[in-house]
Amino acid sequence: MSHQPLVGIVMGSDSDWPVMRLCAETLKKFGIAYEARVLSAHRTPDAALDYASTAQQRGMKILIGAAGGAAHLAGVLAAKTELPVLAVPMPSKHLQGLDSLLAMVQMPGGIPVATFAIGEAGATNAALFSVAMLALSDAELAAKLHEYRAQQTEKVLSKTLQDLP
Ligand code: RP5
Repeated sequence: MSHQPLVGIVMGSDSDWPVMRLCAETLKKFGIAYEARVLSAHRTPDAALDYASTAQQRGMKILIGAAGGAAHLAGVLAAKTELPVLAVPMPSKHLQGLDSLLAMVQMPGGIPVATFAIGEAGATNAALFSVAMLALSDAELAAKLHEYRAQQTEKVLSKTLQDLP
């Protein structure tokens, strides 16, 4: 695994890590170097903007913003970089992540973020989507993704057979 991080996982709080570790673990499984940071659109706005505006020159390819509640983080990152920004809504205490989802998915036209499912599925899928994007220019990674999907298919089919009466 190269040490140059290609994917930046940015969380609004360390309380997001139990969910976002699935994203990190999935990237690791594919041998993709990543860095994980806690930066908040509201509590550390200058640091969040600085991170996004320097990410490309540091060799990053993709940013993943995870936040809950009034979840502006992914949009704020996207405002300061032309790298693709993926957004993972965190399950929030009072509205179970519906607030996070709507805050992320309803970006006005002009500054896109690609929003994933709330919580663990979104965390895993943001990583798998990153793999798919990076695999466009990396044949070895494309082969790994192909193998992962084949194994997943096999697993589902074998479960279905075992469950038959
Ligand atoms: C957001 O507020 C974070 O992304 C987190 O999901 C939520 C709660 O943060 P803490 O109060 O746990 O730090 O900014």
